Amino acid sequence: MRFAATQAICDLSMLPSFIRFCWRHSGASWKINTHLTRCERLLLYKLGLSQPPGAVMVEIGSYLGASSCFLAAAAQVRGGKLHCVDTWLNDGMTEGRRDTWNEFSKNTLPFSPSIRTHRGTSTDIAVNFKDRIDLLFVDGDHSYEACKADLKTWFPYMVDGTR
Ligand SMILES: C[S@@+](CC[C@H](N)C(=O)[O-])C[C@H]1O[C@@H](n2cnc3c(N)ncnc32)[C@H](O)[C@@H]1O
Repeated sequence: MRFAATQAICDLSMLPSFIRFCWRHSGASWKINTHLTRCERLLLYKLGLSQPPGAVMVEIGSYLGASSCFLAAAAQVRGGKLHCVDTWLNDGMTEGRRDTWNEFSKNTLPFSPSIRTHRGTSTDIAVNFKDRIDLLFVDGDHSYEACKADLKTWFPYMVDGTR
């Protein structure tokens, strides 16, 4: 935790979010493997907390659940929900294809009441999505074409989108 602290407060503007997260939520969230820096995870938490009560958040690309925990923690505080969208087959990841579902489920267990999972490709899942989205985090397939497709498919569901 000492290492997490020194990294997370490298940006002092994150200090209130860091204290708040450590005070209220599971410290195990810091240990989940991810490419996001600690500041980036705290930024997701901070953005989540700035959403309206009952906020609907969507994460495309949840992997092992690191970013999911920080968004779900904020959803929990705001009385909202986080929708996690992933194939959980490690698509597009340099480490190769493997089933990551069990690791995701175990890692996100402390936040499971605030999480809804949607297993499949992001553009397929979008077709049957019913809610209006307050916060969308796109972190699935990082290729230009896939990011563009995700934005094109999901943006209309945003509260200030056009759907
Ligand atoms: C970069 S990782 C996400 C990392 C995660 N946000 C974090 O920071 O902990 C990308 C994830 O997107 C998923 N993915 C890739 N392409 C996808 C697609 N077309 N639809 C759904 N999920 C996809 C992969 O299976 C992988 O778990």
